[in-house]
Amino acid sequence: MQTIEVDLGASSYPITIGPGLLTDREVLDAQIPGRDLLVVTNTTVAKLYLAKLTTSFAQRRIAECILPDGEQHKTLQTAGWVFDALVANKMNRDATVLALGGGVVGDIAGFAAASYQRGIGYVQIPTTLLAQVDSSVGGKTGVNHPGGKNLIGAFYQPRAVIADTDTLATLPDRELKSGLAEVIKHGCVWDPLLFAWLERNMLQLLARDVAALTYAIGRSCEIKATVVARDEREQDLRAILNFGHTFGHAIEAATNFDTYLHGEAVALGMIMAADLSQRMGLIDAAVKDRLRDVLAQTGLPTEPPRIGAAKAYELMQMDKKVLAGAVRLVLLEKLGRAIVTDQYPKDALEATLTEYFG
Ligand code: NAD
Ligand code: GLY
Repeated sequence: MQTIEVDLGASSYPITIGPGLLTDREVLDAQIPGRDLLVVTNTTVAKLYLAKLTTSFAQRRIAECILPDGEQHKTLQTAGWVFDALVANKMNRDATVLALGGGVVGDIAGFAAASYQRGIGYVQIPTTLLAQVDSSVGGKTGVNHPGGKNLIGAFYQPRAVIADTDTLATLPDRELKSGLAEVIKHGCVWDPLLFAWLERNMLQLLARDVAALTYAIGRSCEIKATVVARDEREQDLRAILNFGHTFGHAIEAATNFDTYLHGEAVALGMIMAADLSQRMGLIDAAVKDRLRDVLAQTGLPTEPPRIGAAKAYELMQMDKKVLAGAVRLVLLEKLGRAIVTDQYPKDALEATLTEYFG
């Protein structure tokens, strides 16, 4: 079992990573405050893990809120169902929401906890690789709006993150690969040694070797904890964690959020961000090639859909990093170092968009 601290003063919290945590009463009791608990999950995860988790608590009052599965349900409506469950079960300010599931459940449940009675505690219990390496850490919560992804939300830190690595055994392959895209992202923007380790260990990760997965989760959480501790509300540094996301969100939106998983869209977006970085002379072709190769080795898509450059640019304007009308992009200066800038030649961006989106 490994513990990593997210150091945010009074809002600091531990991330615990290891096998068997869903039934580890000592860890659960120590890290989950409150007598009243509302477990928020979805239909898929409920079948697999809800009973396992709820039977692990002694002397607590536990209610459940089971949401439909899917990104299309990350809406104000489903957040409303969490409020309904909190009210119906007479939960007060000392209640704790437990987000049991992937990033969709975690984002909705965290947002509901941030707003209910102006904020109650919540604990992330991530069950996808993507949630264990990224979305459960850092306090970004929210839901989608028909006008764009994650447009409604709040920065609101969990009280703890408890990542049971055993849950990854039931994760579909495609979801595992989607999570690996975010690990590759961490290597690109922060840690060239992690990137090189991924190049060498991808087969073990895809075979779900426990030691390899545990290392990838732990290192990702360390990186994310470091970045979030320095810039919790994304004033500057934290934006580097959106490497590939501006292009990726345009791909997700252009394809109705139902064609690409989040990590798949990020994979495509990272290739495009690397392409623009290369056009600007920041990195050489070898870095872009290494990125494309490791994504291909993971089994992630490497050919963006032909959604059209103009349409993509329009969608990129909805990105939350847009300031005073300027689309800011995360680019690579070298492997392991990223910058956030709106100072890129417009013709270079146009060339990247046209080459990949048509
Ligand atoms: P997800 O939550 O939709 O989970 C993927 C699928 O796996 C779902 O069908 C889910 O029911 C199923 N599942 C979950 N755990 C399982 C398990 N152990 N075994 C079998 N099936 C399981 O998707 P995700 O990739 O976890 O998260 C994507 C979401 O996270 C997106 O909405 C994205 O915007 C968000 N996100 C948020 C942050 C953040 O910082 N808050 C960061 C990255 C992504
Ligand atoms: N996933 C990007 C962030 O949490 O900042």
